[in-house]
Amino acid sequence: MFGLTRARKAATVLAVGAAAAATALIGPAPAAVAAPQPIVGGSTTTTSAYPFMMQITDSGQNQFCGGTLVSPTKVVTAAHCMVGETTSTVRVVGGRTYRNGTNGTVSRVSKIWIHPSYTDATNGDDVAVLTLSTSMPYTPAPYVSSTQTGVYAAGTTARILGWGTTRSNGSSSNQLRTATVPIVSSSSCANSYGSDYIASDMVCAGYTSGGVDTCQGDSGGPLLVGGVLAGITSWGEGCAAAGHPGVYTRLTTFSSLVTAQVNS
Ligand code: ARG
Repeated sequence: MFGLTRARKAATVLAVGAAAAATALIGPAPAAVAAPQPIVGGSTTTTSAYPFMMQITDSGQNQFCGGTLVSPTKVVTAAHCMVGETTSTVRVVGGRTYRNGTNGTVSRVSKIWIHPSYTDATNGDDVAVLTLSTSMPYTPAPYVSSTQTGVYAAGTTARILGWGTTRSNGSSSNQLRTATVPIVSSSSCANSYGSDYIASDMVCAGYTSGGVDTCQGDSGGPLLVGGVLAGITSWGEGCAAAGHPGVYTRLTTFSSLVTAQVNS
């Protein structure tokens, strides 16, 4: 019954749960198109306002995921963004507000660390750390320590950012967008997603009525609480649908692993 969309690039159709092959088509991000709406619900912003916000691109600098700069040479993103990628195929672009821009700093990636247990976003462990060949001259974001689980208290306001589609099956946004969404309790998210929601590895955010959410192409980008990286855009059923909040990697669970990579 869920068509969980958690991929980007070519059409990824995923049916999970007991039920049928509901389909969620994720087209390749079309060329930059100014969107009528944000992320889904939200507003335009800039990488000057959020300097740690990185575009993850292919070798042609076509953005397909987001990432968060956590040190001058380390970027946190989603494991599912790195499936099939190599250090030859990925670039990280900082300081570029527009998908069709040519400004900012472009770096190659010298190492891709993917959580060793990662299999699929709905199985958790959706975290990766990229090591950059070129230092980014932008202020990194702090990220949660393993003990800061209070950031996930239900109702806490969280900020999402990305260049993703502005509705399910829509077009990517040319300009970076942002919105705020409330953290959803684990019990409520388990009601939405059943066994696909793994409370130890995931956290949900969104309004009960929907309307504001991350969507395709936002994956890998940040969920910030009080300016601190607390989650990674991971998956959801559709986008901004009532009763189906966005699902984010619960970064406190992976904080020590991320630190090991940041210090490596
Ligand atoms: N899987 C998407 C991506 O790769 C992110 C989906 C987030 N979905 C949601 N409803 N919040 O870009």
